Amino acid sequence: MVRDAKYWVDEPVPETPAPSEYPAPWKKTKIVGTRMPRLDGYERVSGTAVYPSDIVLPSMLYGAVLRCPHAYARVTELDVSAAEKMPGVMAFLTPSSPEAKDIQWPFFRGSEPVPILSRTCKYEGEPIAAVAAETPQQAADALKKVVVKYEVLPSVPDHTAALEAGAPAVHDTGNQAGEASTYERGDISAGFAEADVVLERTYRTEYEIQAPMELHGCVAQWDGNKLTVWESLQGVFSIQEQYARVLGLPLSNVRVVSTFMGGGFGSKLTTSRSSILATLLAKKTARPVKLFVSREEAMLVTGNRPGLDARLKAGVKKDGTLTAFEFDGISSGGSYSEGGTGLNDWLVKDLYTCANVKCVDVFVHINAGPVRPFRAPGHPQGAWVLEQMMDDLAEAIGMDPVELRIKNVPTVSQARGGQPYTSTGLKQCLQEGSEAFGWASARKTDNDNRHLKRGAGVGACTWVAGGGGPPATIVVKLFADGSVNLNMGASDIGTGTRTVMAMVVAEELGVDPAKISIENADTRSTQWASSSGGSKTVPTESPAVREAAYNVKKQLLEMAAEEHELDAGDLTIEDGTVVSLVDPASKFPVTELRGLKRRRVVMGVGYRGPNPEGKTVNPFAAQFCEVEVNTRTGEVKVVRFVAAHDSGRILNRLTFDNQVFGGVTMGIGYALTEQRVLDSNQTGKMVNANFHDYKIPTALDVPAEIPSVVIDPNDTECNTTGTKGCGEPVTIPTAAAVANAVYDAIGVRITKGPITPDKILDALKTQRKGA
Ligand code: MOS
Repeated sequence: MVRDAKYWVDEPVPETPAPSEYPAPWKKTKIVGTRMPRLDGYERVSGTAVYPSDIVLPSMLYGAVLRCPHAYARVTELDVSAAEKMPGVMAFLTPSSPEAKDIQWPFFRGSEPVPILSRTCKYEGEPIAAVAAETPQQAADALKKVVVKYEVLPSVPDHTAALEAGAPAVHDTGNQAGEASTYERGDISAGFAEADVVLERTYRTEYEIQAPMELHGCVAQWDGNKLTVWESLQGVFSIQEQYARVLGLPLSNVRVVSTFMGGGFGSKLTTSRSSILATLLAKKTARPVKLFVSREEAMLVTGNRPGLDARLKAGVKKDGTLTAFEFDGISSGGSYSEGGTGLNDWLVKDLYTCANVKCVDVFVHINAGPVRPFRAPGHPQGAWVLEQMMDDLAEAIGMDPVELRIKNVPTVSQARGGQPYTSTGLKQCLQEGSEAFGWASARKTDNDNRHLKRGAGVGACTWVAGGGGPPATIVVKLFADGSVNLNMGASDIGTGTRTVMAMVVAEELGVDPAKISIENADTRSTQWASSSGGSKTVPTESPAVREAAYNVKKQLLEMAAEEHELDAGDLTIEDGTVVSLVDPASKFPVTELRGLKRRRVVMGVGYRGPNPEGKTVNPFAAQFCEVEVNTRTGEVKVVRFVAAHDSGRILNRLTFDNQVFGGVTMGIGYALTEQRVLDSNQTGKMVNANFHDYKIPTALDVPAEIPSVVIDPNDTECNTTGTKGCGEPVTIPTAAAVANAVYDAIGVRITKGPITPDKILDALKTQRKGA
């Protein structure tokens, strides 16, 4: 069973009623598809937008967490009596505090619930105690006064070592996390037998940290037994359920607000143990408590992209027919998982047509921070493996790598038993992307006699969970003065959701986007929405938004038809005016409608109908890059990058381009610099838990322009806005494209990422010796 769009949080899937009537696909659009700057851009850049980390309440305290400094340790002594007497300290929580001792964290997948504060710590940074004080400094000082002793246990920081006999046991149940995920179709032995070329390689990707700009945390406030939490999150409703479950509260007593938030990349699909602690401290002190983790804590405890060790064996015929893939992967979600493992093999199973495929994907426990979903879980890892192999296969049969990919573009999802896609823009992504990039000439670059070698590479992808689906409920209100309110539960995780959805209302309702105010991501005042993850916010929400606006429009047109004795079917609304499609002279400002004057507000509700039965809605992409490798220093510079994406219809070309730029930048970091480094020889601790030693690309590390190529398959089947989603797909093939370009430049393949200068220099040394 494919978990599809539901892989990241254990959300219920309530059914929403399918719309009684779907609006017809848009033909020509006026607003949708344009480049519209964010409607909340001024607030965001001026600092007036209030993010959860900006919230300051009267009498608010600051919380901080005492965390285990060891990868694996038992707390043998914990004494907060001196710390409690420090200036400004209002409350302490320890594992035995009455307020904390019965509170459990039930969100580690495949594990029993653990106490919210631990006595046995299985990862560096696991919470042991928490404090609330008048100032953040007093809270930090108090933690330093806590007397705590540890019995440090042997730890295992490496996912391969964790499976070896005699490895320290992370859990009593053994170090393998559940059953291996296995998949098989066709007959791989027969597939390899019919191949002209069989290649087998091993690959490795490193652990990456989400590192959003705004840190993880909340401000918690109680009013009697009602809790309000302002938290930096990707979805307020699933987090409302988490608080209600952990604290034993009715949903109606938990309000979660996350109107503005500063990025998550998957790491904010769940709340955190520290945020639960903030609510407990707030309850104990009867004062609001603010508790945000530090950057160093975030690096340890708020998630990661699992590293991967993989082997891929592949068979191809001389004509480019893929005959077999055999994939084995080992990976780890840390000592516990908060979602985001799995799917390392998805692209091997589904990106290219191949009859015979076998995959085994194993996850193990190591002593490191819990995994959380990270921008396209499993996929950038899988692309690193598959897309480098595709280039090796192409070379082995003397075929252009783009040609080999085009030859194997599927029209059905093979991993879903041959379900057809509503649209497959992969071939056009490869064709039009390579034209825009100038692929043929870039591959011919003459590198003779230069120490700066140029090369060009390609990478392609699909994304398992795009395409959205129900449920979503949207309310649109049009007021007597013609202004509009859009009420939407979904979070805008920095992608421009608010603006994009206002554009949909503006398009459908014929109003100026500037006249639309937006309420979102507040469980008290907005309608239920799933979390903004899986690149499905646009395809999930926009059809419901369109439906709600359409239902307002229908009522206005019926009023106009009745008041002016016209046929509602002949009317539409443009720029706030009802106009007749048959008699252009008939025009009535919406605000003049007697029905609106009487009712004062016209409200429309929109629900998200189901995706088409028996079909798959997935986005596709192909990316092209040119690198320059300095063979003296080993440095790689990405000099040019073009990203061709089939995300369905693009609602806002500007915010789409922002997604492309951001996703590619993140992928370049994955390719060249980003890696969590654990001290595997001695302590097992992370040695680069800061922005100085954990290298995220800056503007100077990526090309100044990253042009996008839009492939719109004009998908009228997927949903009523024709959208399939963007965001995660952008970051999937990037690192593989960079690796392929590096190979094209210097003729040696770096299969273990990231491609750091030392690896390039080592590879060149080996190459010279071999020659
Ligand atoms: Mo994404 S990893 O579903 O935020």
